Amino acid sequence: MRQDRSADSWASLYADHAAAWEQRFADACAACGIDGAVVFSGSVKYRHRDDLQYPFFAEPYFRVWVPYAYPGSAVRIVPGEKPLLVYQRDEDFWHMPAPEPEGVWTDRFEIRCVSIGKALLRELNGVSHLAGIGEDAGEEMGFASVNDPALLSHLDYTRAFKTPYEVACMEEASRIGALGHAATQRALAEAPSEFELNEIYCRASGQRESALPYQNIVALNEHAGILHYQNLDRQPPAQFCTFLLDAGGDFNGYASDITRTRASPGDPFADLIDSLDAMQQQLCAEACPGTDYVSLNDRAHQLLAEVLVAHGIARCSADECYQRGITRVFLPHGLGHLLGLQVHDAGGRLEGPGGAERPPPSEHPFLRLTRTLEPGFVVTIEPGLYFIPALLEDLRQSAAGRSVDWDRVARWLPYGGIRVEDDVLVTETGSRNLTRPALKSCGLA
Ligand code: GLY
Ligand code: MN
Ligand code: MN
Repeated sequence: MRQDRSADSWASLYADHAAAWEQRFADACAACGIDGAVVFSGSVKYRHRDDLQYPFFAEPYFRVWVPYAYPGSAVRIVPGEKPLLVYQRDEDFWHMPAPEPEGVWTDRFEIRCVSIGKALLRELNGVSHLAGIGEDAGEEMGFASVNDPALLSHLDYTRAFKTPYEVACMEEASRIGALGHAATQRALAEAPSEFELNEIYCRASGQRESALPYQNIVALNEHAGILHYQNLDRQPPAQFCTFLLDAGGDFNGYASDITRTRASPGDPFADLIDSLDAMQQQLCAEACPGTDYVSLNDRAHQLLAEVLVAHGIARCSADECYQRGITRVFLPHGLGHLLGLQVHDAGGRLEGPGGAERPPPSEHPFLRLTRTLEPGFVVTIEPGLYFIPALLEDLRQSAAGRSVDWDRVARWLPYGGIRVEDDVLVTETGSRNLTRPALKSCGLA
């Protein structure tokens, strides 16, 4: 665990975290009339007709309890009993065996080691009165329920409220991501390719690519307008316009999710980036307890309309730009999402623990978070402004297209777009930005 926080501090954070999650599991199980749950971490998967492994990502409800992603393992959580971890440690001369459990979390568990998958079930002490959770929980195992949607919805709903241990992990994930962002920004002067920038990010943040919380988006020039751009060009572009990096860090299974966009110093596109950055900070400040995230998403579009008008991209009033849906062409994704054990954390649309969902408004179908913000939520605030040819063409053909300065749009097409993304913890009185202090400590504004 993190070196500059004492082991005692982590121990006490983890103890409180485990106690909180024991209560959450107890409540969820009671609501579903079940005695407890077994969470399977999942299995290593192999390529078809091959003995090569895919990268392994453990079930999030396993990582709640266990900082290390043991494959083929399970935790048994039964209220009133000491939690049990059964982990798999095969003698395998092809692969490194999983490490022995160590660290502040181990005191909380009874821990047993098994060598082969079949023995795992035997070690779990009978499961007919328990719920099975995870990809490896099978109907044939004799559980009272398997991945019961009602149970999962209870857990998903409470998962939005991060424990102080989870916040500490996400602060550390932010620090890891910030190291990578800072290194790529410093390297820009040498005109690197996307491939090189990705390598620089992984090296500086100390992360192997297969273990990143999500695949880095490393986009130069017009690629910045492809929302989940997945390639890595090996050739630097002939002329540098923009660099968009969406890349995070992982710590004990918890993620950070950070995006910054840069233009050449002195390039007028930098003014547009500055405007989006100011707008993003305004939205971060408004991410307070009681704020309806659907309304905040709406507010982002109102502010974006002002930016489009101020920069001469829209030739109408900001109100008209917003009302006619022009902003939705320039910002087709949602304002952000819950963040935690998954980058797009589960439960973003739940109205309560019962499973009913609040769908996003029809004009914002990709909005992943429709809840009212409460203390303990960690959310991303990630407005963007993109020049996406296919969407712009539709706009040009429509009546609203007459309100757009197409020469201005054509000028910015080679720049692709802008996204500014921070991770924000909602507090009792407002919010705390987890990203900006981490970037600042690495020398980035
Ligand atoms: N990195 C993916 C996202 O920002 O949602
Ligand atoms: Mn995000
Ligand atoms: Mn992102």
